[in-house]
Amino acid sequence: MSLSLLQQACPETAIVLGSGLGAVAEAWGIEAEVGYAEVPGLSASTVPGHAGRFVLTRVKDQPVLIAQGRRHLYEGLTAHEVTAGVRFMHSLGVKRLVLTNAAGAIKDSFAVGDLMLITDHLNLLGTTPLLGGPHFHDMSEVYSLEWRERFVRAAAELGLPLHQGVYAATLGPQYETPAEIRLMRAVGADAVGMSTVPEAIQARALGMTVAGVSMLTNWAAGLKAQTLHHAEVVSVGQTASAQLAALLQKVL
Ligand code: HPA
Repeated sequence: MSLSLLQQACPETAIVLGSGLGAVAEAWGIEAEVGYAEVPGLSASTVPGHAGRFVLTRVKDQPVLIAQGRRHLYEGLTAHEVTAGVRFMHSLGVKRLVLTNAAGAIKDSFAVGDLMLITDHLNLLGTTPLLGGPHFHDMSEVYSLEWRERFVRAAAELGLPLHQGVYAATLGPQYETPAEIRLMRAVGADAVGMSTVPEAIQARALGMTVAGVSMLTNWAAGLKAQTLHHAEVVSVGQTASAQLAALLQKVL
């Protein structure tokens, strides 16, 4: 399938799907599909559960581009490299970007399997895709308040629990220690993950409107008597991705 199909469709809305959330793409039907390897500057993911393709779908007659699988800093890439997909989507004319991810729950009132709308983030990565410029970009509203209000209304209409909170991004690839989670909680983190923040920063710097939704796939380290496994994170994501698909369909 060729790149030109994506260019012709001129999608203004795109969604990046995180670990185990790929079923959202299948739920809406696939009009065209382009592997990341076919896009100059992109390459396929090395992580199980991350497919590595763009899927063109249609929601309420509007073309929507889905990036299924993403690259992560913990693969040894730079923040500039992991955000190549965002710049590519911007070049296609995408103006609105929904970033989804799997995250560990930190806040007590959350529950595993629920969704959290990202209100703000803590960039604990020690890097940014904007190294070298543009400098001093405003980040006071990374996650669009107007879009957040639409998500909250849509979730209420669907009778779907939707938490809100601050997403902390860590480098990984190892999960956190209980002490690290206590530190993150103390500085205001409600959920923790290894993605999303570089893409959100890049998208805002390009003037895109951004929303973020975390699927809470597990309790963060030390909060319950358990150890963390990637397979479990992917499998909770898979069972809950129908809820995410319903929410996105309502909002878009
Ligand atoms: N920590 C970091 N990343 C994650 C987690 C977690 O607990 N769950 C899913 N992604």
